[in-house]
Amino acid sequence: MRRAVLPALCLLLSAPVAFAVEGADKIEALGQALFFDTALSGNGTQSCASCHDPANGFASATAFPEGAVQGHFGNRKPPSLAYQAISPVLHHRIEDGEALFVGGNMADGRARGGSFGDPAADQALMPILNPDEMGLPHAACLAARACASQGAAMQMASPGVCAMPLDAAATCAAAEQAEASSETLAAVAVVQRALSAYEASSHVVRFSSRYDDYVAGQGDLTADEKAGLALFDGKAQCSACHVLTAHAGRGAVLTDFTYDNLGVPRNPENPRYRATVNGTAWVDRGLAATLEGDPLYAAAAASVEGAVKVPTLRNVWTGQPRAYMHNGWFKTLEGVVRFYNTRDVWPRCAGDVTEAQAMAARCWPAPEIEATMNRDELGNLKLTEAEEAQIVAFLKTLTDR
Ligand code: HEC
Ligand code: HEC
Repeated sequence: MRRAVLPALCLLLSAPVAFAVEGADKIEALGQALFFDTALSGNGTQSCASCHDPANGFASATAFPEGAVQGHFGNRKPPSLAYQAISPVLHHRIEDGEALFVGGNMADGRARGGSFGDPAADQALMPILNPDEMGLPHAACLAARACASQGAAMQMASPGVCAMPLDAAATCAAAEQAEASSETLAAVAVVQRALSAYEASSHVVRFSSRYDDYVAGQGDLTADEKAGLALFDGKAQCSACHVLTAHAGRGAVLTDFTYDNLGVPRNPENPRYRATVNGTAWVDRGLAATLEGDPLYAAAAASVEGAVKVPTLRNVWTGQPRAYMHNGWFKTLEGVVRFYNTRDVWPRCAGDVTEAQAMAARCWPAPEIEATMNRDELGNLKLTEAEEAQIVAFLKTLTDR
């Protein structure tokens, strides 16, 4: 089934388009400063970069880093945020008589892009106000902290904002006002748009990997890497979802921003199973949880139980420890590729095992959600181990400089 390429996303490769518009440099510079600013976390210890490390592909080394409050954890792995700022607003199109969902930010698309037509701007507030992440209590506190810490840059990016300096300590200690003031709303909007602008800027969206050089005719790949590319785009069908077509004339984004349930096992390391919040019965419903509350889309929720957004494969390898998939159960690219190849061939492991144990025993744990699992493009790819290794070699060419 599925997946003609998104026409709007996939123009032919041509000369890179100029990115800057008037003032874009100022809003990007503000976004960059905010991204690394620990003043945006409740106890002043955490910034966006704490979980999205630029040196590790804007992802994190561990599956479940602690939030700004000790003992608080999110329930998913921090993904690479690179290239996500170009994801379109969450929408659907009909393919083979079924709704196919596209766009949004977050594994479950809950940053839909409603407020500014920009999912990354919606998303930017979520970690800051999430008690399990950066943990600021409310928007007024965010506005006060941002103006106190980055007042000059805020005013450069948006003249008039932060005109009335607020006492950040008192504002953050206060219970939330019934209605945020217009000053608060203006400052928060500037923070959202600045973080989104930085995430969409050439600091983050670089298109500067060895693979880009190769496509541009400015560098070569090894024989194994080229064989891996041919498999990726052929026998292994990876490019059905991790598309190789150029985005807006710039380069391949390696995702079509659609959603799928690959049958990834639950990760028993997830601290949420130990917490009173969710308990061991918690199931990650992915996109279904986002659609279920929407009158327009609720009827489609059952078909996307456990479906999560296709991530970019750019920067999946940085040479540093990394966890893969939405819950970080996978720790190696070798494990991921073997899973695509043999999910439906190897027997089920008995009970919870780690990736290393599963690889050694040649079994896979049960999928977290089986009913909606994709059986069309993966599970039994009939790749040899040498071909798996060539695909991994190709994935390692996708790291931006
Ligand atoms: C405590 C760790 C932590 C911090 C701090 C953090 N994030 Fe995240 N981030 C995550 C996790 C976990 C997810 C995945 C959440 C999900 O999909 O439900 C995520 C997801 C995202 C995504 C969505 C990527 C996608 O694939 O759609 C973006 C964008 C993002 N974060 C940006 C930010 C920004 C901007 C900040 C700072 C304001 C920030 N994050 C701070 C942990 C963190
Ligand atoms: C049917 C669509 C689809 C196909 C085909 C597909 N993928 Fe994926 N890929 C996904 C989705 C969806 C995820 C995220 C799943 C999750 O987190 O549970 C993913 C995740 C990954 C990840 C983890 C990325 C990260 O940052 O955690 C890697 C690596 C990967 N895919 C490589 C491949 C390779 C190599 C192939 C071909 C052998 C392939 N994919 C084929 C949809 C697909």
